[in-house]
Amino acid sequence: MIISQGKKCLVEFQMAEQPLRAGEVAIVGAGPGDPGLLTLRALMLIQQADVILYDRLVSPQIMELVNPAAERIHVGKASGCHFVSQEDTNALLVQLALKRRRIVRLKGGDPYIFGRGGEEAEFLVDNNIEFQVVPGITSAAGCASYCGIPLTHRDYSQSVTFVTGHRKSDETLELNWAVLAAPGQTRVFYMGLHNAPTIVRELMAHGLSGDCPVALVERGTTPQQHMAVTTLLDLEATIIRENFQPPTLIIVGEVVRLADKLAQPAVSGWQRGRCDAVAASAGGRSA
Ligand SMILES: C[S@@+](CC[C@H](N)C(=O)[O-])C[C@H]1O[C@@H](n2cnc3c(N)ncnc32)[C@H](O)[C@@H]1O
Repeated sequence: MIISQGKKCLVEFQMAEQPLRAGEVAIVGAGPGDPGLLTLRALMLIQQADVILYDRLVSPQIMELVNPAAERIHVGKASGCHFVSQEDTNALLVQLALKRRRIVRLKGGDPYIFGRGGEEAEFLVDNNIEFQVVPGITSAAGCASYCGIPLTHRDYSQSVTFVTGHRKSDETLELNWAVLAAPGQTRVFYMGLHNAPTIVRELMAHGLSGDCPVALVERGTTPQQHMAVTTLLDLEATIIRENFQPPTLIIVGEVVRLADKLAQPAVSGWQRGRCDAVAASAGGRSA
């Protein structure tokens, strides 16, 4: 709880000013997994909602913060294997809104970054349903920070591009490879594991060196975070050897070289809490 003397606390203020109305849908970004990366508005809305439609990427620790009385509907998607189709999810949002429920559509990361939040919002507009969108920390930002990788850096990278590594229904990955292979930038591939061979082949064919450093981050910012640093040439072998599984990000660029220097062993959020608790019980100091 946030407390301030003599003033309404921020959470109370926002609850009073931004209530979730009956018949309204809030499309809310849950961030990459660590509940410490939820926004205050996201927290307030998941505590007000009476129905939560949530994705596979929303962590169990975040689901623990949801209004205990809320109905929970899992509409998660794994590539090629949908619990509920996108069309059915859209239709369900409208049905629930017409029943005057207070609905949170909770999505991993940011709803408008490879999250189909745009498609859902369009459907709501087309059906005259009131809605709001709450941004979340996208996985690229969360995972990179937790792994000691600044996505831009004046010495190494003047831009960062978020790229989908997966197209609808296994369409081929047609990207502007010449632009992506140019030096001085960071590329973050979402959903890229399956197409890693194409990513390597095309980036190298367009001039990027096989020595270019690459980071793989699976389940970043969660207690299961698994990270490896490799090179473009060894990317496929690393994925197989270390058995990387979705959700994984592939970060390609010189900034990955900083990962060692900037790594934070007991990084933040729940990891620090856990390390401190372990250190205290052992009578020692955390790393
Ligand atoms: C459908 S996209 C959703 C992206 C999400 N809207 C966001 O802003 O992060 C799913 C992909 O995001 C990436 N992703 C999401 N959460 C992740 C996490 N905690 N660690 C690593 N990658 C993650 C993976 O590439 C995954 O396949």
